[in-house]
Amino acid sequence: MSVLGISGSMRKNGNTALLVTTILDRVREAGIETEFLTLAGMDIRPCTGCEACKSAKWCATEDDDWAGVAEKMIGCEVLVLGAPTYYYDINGQTKNLIDRTYSLYHDRRLAGRKAVSVAVCADRGCERTLETIEGFLNTHEFSYLGYVCGKGYAPGDVRKDERAMERARQVADTIIRYLRPED
Ligand SMILES: Cc1cc2nc3c(=O)[nH]c(=O)nc-3n(C[C@H](O)[C@H](O)[C@H](O)COP(=O)(O)O)c2cc1C
Repeated sequence: MSVLGISGSMRKNGNTALLVTTILDRVREAGIETEFLTLAGMDIRPCTGCEACKSAKWCATEDDDWAGVAEKMIGCEVLVLGAPTYYYDINGQTKNLIDRTYSLYHDRRLAGRKAVSVAVCADRGCERTLETIEGFLNTHEFSYLGYVCGKGYAPGDVRKDERAMERARQVADTIIRYLRPED
């Protein structure tokens, strides 16, 4: 699959999901395959720091939803990863997903893909949310196609952030140009 969008929010139809799907919708309209995953309702437990992944090259915690998301990440060309801001940083569910990808780092299983980061906050803290996502992307040797930072509190509020909605469309166009350079 070409473009995988993940919303790390526990709100299924929250602002993060809205921005990520805005990007995916435009990319799909250009005829490119996309898939959207929400971490809402998923059971993604924290990294235990057991280090078993150093030899197994896969996370030892196997009985939750992490592996399904990890397999989709391995299979994508472009990852759009979004998270809401909680206390000036990403929320716990997204952090659990990221921490567990340590198991994919030893063999650089995610290296060489492109990525877009998406962050939402009500007022302040988006910058660190983006930095945390970028830390994950840089560590795994993704290259960066851009970011979107949106403001909103209640689900759907980010629609009113016209700058963010426009930025989401611009980032989508960057993804399209990358995947379809001949167009
Ligand atoms: C536990 C918690 C912590 C939050 N911390 C912040 C914060 O530090 N800064 C901020 O501007 N908004 C904060 N918010 C507001 C959310 O970032 C905001 O509602 C955002 O739109 C949620 O995105 P979502 O709809 O995708 O879940 C917090 C919300 C919750 C529930």
